Amino acid sequence: MKIPRRLQPLVDDGLIDEVVTQLMSGKEAQVYVVRSGGELRCAKVFKEARQRSFKQAVQYQEGRKERNSRRARAMAKKTRYGQKEQEQAWLNAEVDALYRLASAGVRVPRPYGFVDGVLLMELIGDAEGFAAPRLDDVTLGAEEARGHHARVIGEVVRMLCAGLVHGDLSEFNVLLDERGPVIIDLPQAVDAAGNNSAAMMLERDVDNMRAYFGRFAPELLETDYAKEIWALYEAGELHPESRLTGCFAHDTAPVDVDDLMTVIDDVREEEAHRQAARHRGDEPGVEEAAEEWRESRREC
Ligand SMILES: Nc1ncnc2c1ncn2[C@@H]1O[C@H](COP(=O)(O)OP(=O)(O)OP(=O)(O)O)[C@@H](O)[C@H]1O
Ligand SMILES: [Mg+2]
Repeated sequence: MKIPRRLQPLVDDGLIDEVVTQLMSGKEAQVYVVRSGGELRCAKVFKEARQRSFKQAVQYQEGRKERNSRRARAMAKKTRYGQKEQEQAWLNAEVDALYRLASAGVRVPRPYGFVDGVLLMELIGDAEGFAAPRLDDVTLGAEEARGHHARVIGEVVRMLCAGLVHGDLSEFNVLLDERGPVIIDLPQAVDAAGNNSAAMMLERDVDNMRAYFGRFAPELLETDYAKEIWALYEAGELHPESRLTGCFAHDTAPVDVDDLMTVIDDVREEEAHRQAARHRGDEPGVEEAAEEWRESRREC
């Protein structure tokens, strides 16, 4: 196809060999399939600041640290230079989040750099180069919905352990390839420790996922993972392998200590198996994830 103006500098620099096609244009960006580094990749071209909608709201930016103090001072003043720096910091946020999350083991597109307002990243798709569908594009069976839901909740936990809340998680920002869900679209990602809205945003993200997967597996609508996850996070006890139940209740009944110790031992043992599987690089398949989920609900 004809090379879009914003991609021309990357073509001139040899970062992009060919622009293959344009994917659906989102509210904030245009996304293209390009040939780069000998393979098909995605190029996300951010729209100009004034064309963008809600995501740059102040609420999302609280707690983001600007390491360069001269730039931080400029951003605080509302000069034109300060606004430019602010814009650059916003654009860098998605690529920063992708690098951070990829290294924390979250399934996100692998980033290949950010040049002239264009983010180059892995194309999530099939072997023929067709882009993967969004959750919103697919119809799921109940068992698939349970499995994918469990995987997405696992990713949300891993993201939070890496210090981030997505902030705009919905069926439009999760792709589904043959290995399962992949989380995309992160420029608004929120700093979990430094942002007063983080708990609210985590809850909104998790509840969006519950509502979506609950359409196919209505028993998911009874779960409450958000409060459970946040309570563990605040207590400093959240780990990527944390065992969640999906129920959150303030239980005031007296506890049978022997019973409790047996449950804890069982959970530890299962956990050890799971950790070993992860170290071997096995990801749970959709049925396995659904089965683990059913098992975890029994502890409710
Ligand atoms: N790495 C990728 N691999 C395959 N498809 C992708 C990838 N990144 C984005 N897409 C496609 O491009 C669309 C827009 O991307 P994205 O959600 O990041 O942009 P956006 O403009 O910020 O979206 P929104 O409208 O949600 O604000 C996605 O819905 C998805 O279909
Ligand atoms: Mg999107």
